[in-house]
Formats: sequence, C-alpha cells, structure tokens
Amino acid sequence: MEKSLGASFLIFCLHLGWVSCQQKVEQSPPTQIVQEGENTTFSCHYSDSTSTRLQWFRQDTGKGLILLFNIVSEGKQKGRLRSTINKKELLSSLYITDSQPEDSSTYLCAVEPQ
Ligand SMILES: *[C@@H]1O[C@H](CO)[C@@H](O)[C@H](O)[C@H]1NC(C)=O
Repeated sequence: MEKSLGASFLIFCLHLGWVSCQQKVEQSPPTQIVQEGENTTFSCHYSDSTSTRLQWFRQDTGKGLILLFNIVSEGKQKGRLRSTINKKELLSSLYITDSQPEDSSTYLCAVEPQ
C-alpha cells in the first residue's frame, strides 16, 4: 500500500553563526507531497556568487538541525540522498530516491557568505 509523505521547506533564514540572513536563498517547492518509493527533488537558488560553501540540513519537529551535505565544490551522495551544485546557475538540488516515510521532514539549504 502506498503512503503519502509530506516534506516541506522553509524559506531559509537561520542564525548559525556564519550564516548571513542578508543572503537570499530561495527553495522550491515549499511543500512537496510524494508517494513512497518515488523520487523527490528540491532546489535551492541562492544569490551570492562569491559563496564558497552550501549546506543542506534536515530538521525534524522538536529536534535540532542535522547536517546532510556540506558542499564546497561538487555534489555528493549519501545513501538514497544526493546533492548537486551548479555554481554558474547558483543552484543546488537535493535528490531523494525511493522516498521513505522517515524522509518526511523539513529540509533547509544554507549558504555561507564570503
Ligand atoms: C528514481 O531514480 C533512480 C535513480 O536515478 C531510478 O533508477 C528510478 O527509476 C527512479 N524511480 C522513479 C519512480 O522514477
């Protein structure tokens, strides 16, 4: 039986020490409902081309941030999760293959200012 999973994104503005809230980061789509077993893609557009580092986090209700990816120059793979970065287009994507109930979460991307 298939279950619907909800995964949502927040417009990013966190105070994590090195993260600037001046930095404009847009994530899309804001909320995504996927079926179990489907692939999911989330995109993060950022505005500062001098940024040297991009990070993806997940945050579960009542818990802290969990760092998923720390991208300096190229995308990475971690189990069913994959991240890519296109510095020309100022775009990073997070892919989840074979979505599972435990993937339901809020995902955030953060860009480190120069
Ligand atoms: C999800 O992505 C994987 C790896 O790219 C692919 O093999 C698979 O067919 C995709 N599944 C669906 C449901 O699109």
